Amino acid sequence: MQHGMFITLEGVEGAGKSTLMSYIAEIFSEAGKEVVQTREPGGTKTGEQIRSILLDSKNVGVTDDTELLLMFAARSQHIDEIINPALSLDKVVLCDRFTDASYAYQGGGRGIESSRIQILEDWVQQGLKPNLTLLFDLDVETGLRRASNRSEADRFEQEEISFFEQIRSCYLQRAENEPERFRIIDSSQSVDNVKQQIQDILKEFLC
Ligand code: TMP
Repeated sequence: MQHGMFITLEGVEGAGKSTLMSYIAEIFSEAGKEVVQTREPGGTKTGEQIRSILLDSKNVGVTDDTELLLMFAARSQHIDEIINPALSLDKVVLCDRFTDASYAYQGGGRGIESSRIQILEDWVQQGLKPNLTLLFDLDVETGLRRASNRSEADRFEQEEISFFEQIRSCYLQRAENEPERFRIIDSSQSVDNVKQQIQDILKEFLC
């Protein structure tokens, strides 16, 4: 049973979610909560190995179904080893990407039917859902430019811009469908402004 708080961070590449994760962690720590920061794909030893396969741009032959199944294999390990144990100890789990990314990238981007993703979600998560999802929204071109200044392109970052446009619109659609879970952050603003947006959102969850 879930007792803690499960918060996921989502968005296209370069939207700033990974950078702002430690800021969010600080807010909860200052409020006296124990915080676990983790990421997907990854978060466990096995998951990080799966991540290397998925992100390695040399792996050109990975099929869309293999990609999806590997995401959920890593997720299964992550839930059992890290997420559920932390939630049962009343901790706040901050996760850099989760299942919304599978719907956005493998669904919206690769074109896998969402009903097939739903089967894996039901199987692997057994009802586990984020309490809150922060969607860092930014136009795709700016995001990719920011990401390319940061590091060499991984297997996903080498895709065409239209792939990322589909991902962004899938995320926004999901946010519209589940307004009680999602909060959209305008990542085109300055870092100080984005931090203020985060503070305003989290106020609701800290009292
Ligand atoms: P990151 O760059 O945000 O760490 O994420 C790694 C990449 O993995 C990113 O391009 C998005 C992708 N991804 C998926 O395609 N599906 C998923 O389910 C997850 C969690 C990530």
